[in-house]
Amino acid sequence: MEFQASRSFAESMDRRDPLREYRDYFSIPTQGGREVVYLCGNSLGLCPVKAMDYVQQELERWQRLGVWGYFHSPRPWVGYEEPLLGMLAEIVGAEVEEVAMMHTLSTNLHLLLLSFYRPTARRFKILIEHNPFPTDRYALVSQLRLHKIDAAEALVELTPRKGEFVLRSEDILEAIEELGPSLALVFMQGVHYHTGQCFEMEKIATAAHQAGSMVGFDLAHAVGNVPLRLHKWEVDFAVWCSYKYLNGGPAAVGGHLSTKNTA
Ligand SMILES: Cc1ncc(COP(=O)(O)O)c(C=O)c1O
Repeated sequence: MEFQASRSFAESMDRRDPLREYRDYFSIPTQGGREVVYLCGNSLGLCPVKAMDYVQQELERWQRLGVWGYFHSPRPWVGYEEPLLGMLAEIVGAEVEEVAMMHTLSTNLHLLLLSFYRPTARRFKILIEHNPFPTDRYALVSQLRLHKIDAAEALVELTPRKGEFVLRSEDILEAIEELGPSLALVFMQGVHYHTGQCFEMEKIATAAHQAGSMVGFDLAHAVGNVPLRLHKWEVDFAVWCSYKYLNGGPAAVGGHLSTKNTA
């Protein structure tokens, strides 16, 4: 099939889309009385049609049960995440015991870095991609400060080749190999928030481990968007939010994965 930049081609692709029916599961905003073409799931996913009913049910239970809602409700609030973990594990390609739903992406990142970034005098560098998400950089710099390590020396930012906008996989793998014994952590986005580049996570994870480094991913723009096999790829840890492609709603609880016990 050849791509054509025409309305009829787009409509024929829509008709063939196996996910077509799911469109009706979401409320699509309107402007001037017409449904918009919503391309902002990278910022905030659409509201599922059922969300209003679910929220209303919980508010009614809170009114009716007060503190008993924690335990004596059809969906007890203590352990609210338990029914969701199976689905979440499937989305990120992990075991149920490896995933958790809590906090925000940035809070989870701070917590996981405490476990997974264990610098030594020799192995202390962190490899990140050019133009990382600003809050990720703050979290990484704050970890370095905690360990009294100079970010200018330790934070290695990979830039695309001159005249190019995205990173080549071979350059990422080469940088990992070169940093080798000084590398403590490779931390990258699964899908870059700015360029949309989907990184070859499996290859990056393998190369990081070969270099003796930990590897983690910010999956804010990957979770619910691209296929993930975090367990198979042996990713050590990952963090994500659920208000983008998981359609959890503004300020929805984030999630994380950790496949190793670092205790
Ligand atoms: C790539 C990326 N990382 C991190 C964050 C920060 O997430 P939060 O503010 O939910 O912690 C965002 C938020 O948009 C993001 O897009």
